[in-house]
Amino acid sequence: MEDFFKGKDIVLGVCGGIAAYKIPELVRQLVKKGACVRVIMTKNAMHFISPLTLEALSGQPVCTDLFERSENPSIQHISLAKKADMVVIAPATANTIGKMAHGIADDALTTFLLAVKAPIVVCPSMNVWMYENAIVQENLKRLRSFGIHVMSPDTGPLACGTEGAGRLPSIEAIIDKIESLLQSPDLVGERVLVTAGPTREPIDPVRFCSNPSSGRMGFAIARAARQRGAEVTLVSGPTFLSDPPGIKVIHVETAEEMFTAVMSESEYATIVIKAAAVSDFSPVETCKHKIKKEGAHLVLHLKKTPDILKALGKKKERRILVGFAAETEDLISNAQTKLIDKNLDLIVANRIGRKDSGFVSETNRVTFIYRNGHLEKLPLMTKERVANIILDRVLEIKANRCLLS
Ligand SMILES: Cc1cc2nc3c(=O)[nH]c(=O)nc-3n(C[C@H](O)[C@H](O)[C@H](O)COP(=O)(O)O)c2cc1C
Repeated sequence: MEDFFKGKDIVLGVCGGIAAYKIPELVRQLVKKGACVRVIMTKNAMHFISPLTLEALSGQPVCTDLFERSENPSIQHISLAKKADMVVIAPATANTIGKMAHGIADDALTTFLLAVKAPIVVCPSMNVWMYENAIVQENLKRLRSFGIHVMSPDTGPLACGTEGAGRLPSIEAIIDKIESLLQSPDLVGERVLVTAGPTREPIDPVRFCSNPSSGRMGFAIARAARQRGAEVTLVSGPTFLSDPPGIKVIHVETAEEMFTAVMSESEYATIVIKAAAVSDFSPVETCKHKIKKEGAHLVLHLKKTPDILKALGKKKERRILVGFAAETEDLISNAQTKLIDKNLDLIVANRIGRKDSGFVSETNRVTFIYRNGHLEKLPLMTKERVANIILDRVLEIKANRCLLS
């Protein structure tokens, strides 16, 4: 759970579009992250989804009527506007977009939208011909010109049977957008290169040497860096995670491929964070055909893979270089040696082999080791939280460097 969602007041405006059926999941996830979600629905939205569902999931009364009388004597749309930290309109219909673009306030949602001062995110969702209509496009342009954040709809098959742009952006992308707006943009101007996941070193066409890295730690760092305003490139080995929105993702399989991608991308990076669990060895030879199950033993000759971190350390220049050390024993001393040997600014040491920390878990228990020998031990926390603390420390190292130079 990320701290920056905790106690944040998010007003969710739901309009009468077919994608309204996806909104309970958005509410559920935001509440799970610690946000207080208050829903305002248009009258037409209630044709698609019941206020009761959103009331139950948000734990807050749902506003559906501008003239609703409640026990609370305050004017509801104004009191909601006062408290809001963020406003999300999802799905945003062509109708409500049009009303917003022209300052029309004829229901609870559009009246609230004229009063609120918090950032507004609009998530358009409609038939592709409606979306491409010049009037709708002009209205969206107008909203952008007023500083409203308009997300691009996803492209694909639509509920009306047509295909094209008009699908509600994914729940993940909407949450990502909210996160990035809640975050302070302290990495603007930085170009961050992150590596993630395992590599696979083929033995034959169906077998490989690898490790159980899920890629979660590296993906969390990439996402957090982008949310804080950085331009991010993620070089990832094979994982089951989907590409995070707004990030250039380069997919690789082997350590050799990761080496090539990282060395070329690092030219442009100001910060490099290597969270990938690169295989240290690969088979000397890859068999062209599947090795048959013959004999009692199979001897596999392995060779060392290229040391990406070491190569990066050699051509470090002004870059900040962060590495990870995953160890089962002598964690701190092994990590300290790696920090010096690879010319890193910071190494994140994590003990693997525990259920709540390391390769596949959603949480991590890490110790930071700095060049001056200082250790910082963090308690068990989500990988998202660890990611943000790593980025905080990177900025501190940068700031100290500026003071010294
Ligand atoms: C079955 C059905 C599905 C609809 N889906 C959408 C949609 O996805 N996007 C949209 O902009 N309008 C859609 N509409 C049209 C809107 O419901 C209509 O324009 C309405 O006035 C929107 O009202 P509101 O913006 O106040 O919620 C749909 C209408 C029907 C009958």
